Amino acid sequence: MNEYKDIINIYDVNIKEEKDYERLIKLFGVKEIDDVILNNLKYLTGDLHVLLRRKFFYAHRDFDLLLNKYIEGKRFFLYTGRAPSKGKMHIGHLIPFLLTKWFQEKFNVNVYIQIPDEEKYWEKKADNYEEIREYALEDAKTIASLGFDPDKTFIFIDSEYIKNMYKAAIYVAREINLNTAKSVFGFDDSSAIGLPFYIALQIVPTFFERSIPLIPCGIDQDPYFRLQRDIAEKFGYYKASTILSKFVWGLQGPYTKMSASDPKSAIFIDDDYDTIKYKIFKYAFSGGRSTLEEHRKYGGNPDIDVSYFWLSVLFEEDDNKLKEIREKYIMGELTTGELKEYTVNKIWEFLSKIQERRKNINIDKFMYDGKLAREMWEWEFRI
Ligand code: TYM
Repeated sequence: MNEYKDIINIYDVNIKEEKDYERLIKLFGVKEIDDVILNNLKYLTGDLHVLLRRKFFYAHRDFDLLLNKYIEGKRFFLYTGRAPSKGKMHIGHLIPFLLTKWFQEKFNVNVYIQIPDEEKYWEKKADNYEEIREYALEDAKTIASLGFDPDKTFIFIDSEYIKNMYKAAIYVAREINLNTAKSVFGFDDSSAIGLPFYIALQIVPTFFERSIPLIPCGIDQDPYFRLQRDIAEKFGYYKASTILSKFVWGLQGPYTKMSASDPKSAIFIDDDYDTIKYKIFKYAFSGGRSTLEEHRKYGGNPDIDVSYFWLSVLFEEDDNKLKEIREKYIMGELTTGELKEYTVNKIWEFLSKIQERRKNINIDKFMYDGKLAREMWEWEFRI
């Protein structure tokens, strides 16, 4: 059960090559998202989000089953989250929220967004808890700005909402042994004792409704929901279905980390045009040749190029345009500078809309007084 800990554990994600993603499928016991599932989904939604079309969300648990049940008339709800630390949200953190928003739009279902302000503090990734609380609210605003429906979306910060969650946490925390927690997450003797308990807190929102929770998230989050699936039915709730994504590379190159605490590695959601341009031109690893002559003669390699990678994951939705960029880059017709310029503009087009919406966001609707939020402040766990 321990074989994947060098790739993913509670503290870290160390994907080094594409094969690691295939390994995780086997080690976690999840399934690949194949064309059959995507076609079934497209039948219901009419089109597919670019993150699905390009298979950046590449694995799942029971998503096929969820779709079949939906067709038979069963309901589902969406749940995902973001753990604030000392650092802002970057474009990698957006990935699960973008897909969650798309699902809400297509299926008109409730969305629950957890902001666990204790998690990264207990992981010792930040030393100042008061600072994390400030980031928690900032992150909530950023997430709300993606366009979620304020009457069907509940964003909650754990330390504020704990009174409603605690009863469920009591039930859940009894069902998971320390031994299991250790073997699934890789705690060691120096781990804070809050961390194994936190597992219960991330599971609780899967019981907010008596229907199937669908959880879009990075594959690093799957272990929580593997444990959820062992206990949910005991309480009369549904096993969670997860839909799992790969990781966006950092600026430094293929499979490097995008880190919230290192501005050289990441584009943040609130970066302005000049900052994005500066970072991409200065830091984005390029698959181009070292001189223009060589580039024209031998061409560039899009498969190791961070700008091209980001376009292919998210920022260039037009498949034909992406293909054209790829071919021109390989042929040396498109230079590194031109590719970077194009990427900067695409990212800015994307982020400026979010930043604009964020200026006028009424976060209270999502957290306290929208329709779903009001209902949730009355919510109580029942078995
Ligand atoms: P956190 O804050 O580390 O990350 C938030 C979400 O973003 C995903 N993610 C990425 N996805 C693609 N590329 C990247 N470079 C990248 N970096 C992070 C993460 O997988 C995650 O989905 N424990 C959670 C918070 C949480 C949660 C949840 C997540 C609470 N409840 C329910 C998913 C579902 C955390 O630390 O996320």
